[in-house]
Amino acid sequence: MEPVITLAEREDFAEMIQLADLTLPDRMNLHELKKYFELFPDLIFKATYERKIIAFCCAGIDMYQSTGWLLFNIVKKEFQGNGIGKRLIRTRLTALEKFPTVNRVLVTVSELNRPSIRALESFGFKFVEREPNYYGPGKHRDIFELPIVRKQPKASPLVASFL
Ligand SMILES: CC(C)(COP(=O)(O)OP(=O)(O)OC[C@H]1O[C@@H](n2cnc3c(N)ncnc32)[C@H](O)[C@@H]1OP(=O)(O)O)[C@@H](O)C(=O)NCCC(=O)NCCS
Repeated sequence: MEPVITLAEREDFAEMIQLADLTLPDRMNLHELKKYFELFPDLIFKATYERKIIAFCCAGIDMYQSTGWLLFNIVKKEFQGNGIGKRLIRTRLTALEKFPTVNRVLVTVSELNRPSIRALESFGFKFVEREPNYYGPGKHRDIFELPIVRKQPKASPLVASFL
């Protein structure tokens, strides 16, 4: 049976934090997660398998509503390498594309996180900038970007003939 991806709910807090603590300690805490729920309730997703949360992810949008951000993505160790991380990227990109003013998506990734970088590149994300010492001395952050290209509606032949 495939893991199922759905919107996360507030009742999932405890299970999500437990998973984050096990997989990526010191990165996400309850307070931060609660803030994401307040700010971006439609951009937080979980993957469940046999009723247990085995992965989750968050996205956000900047205050000008032009830039979407992939904020956090985590897959339980024993489920990694099965394409769930990529499914969670696709889910968030689909959600962000529904906001008509969002024209690019950014993500911060550690230069050492090969699985994340490979997954992002497979969606067309490109490296744009390195911010030295962002996480502390010697710990840099890399920013990757994906432009959102929207299909323009085709002009009808009648309108086109007058142009
Ligand atoms: C990063 C993470 C979310 C990726 O999720 P995942 O389900 O394991 O990834 P996927 O199976 O979708 O694979 C993504 C890509 O990484 C590659 N990959 C997977 N595991 C890998 C590994 N151990 N080493 C190198 N590449 C790996 C896959 O082959 C795939 O690349 P491809 O499209 O070129 O084949 C997951 O590894 C994780 O939770 N890591 C710890 C938390 C973390 O670092 N989160 C990101 C920062 S918020």
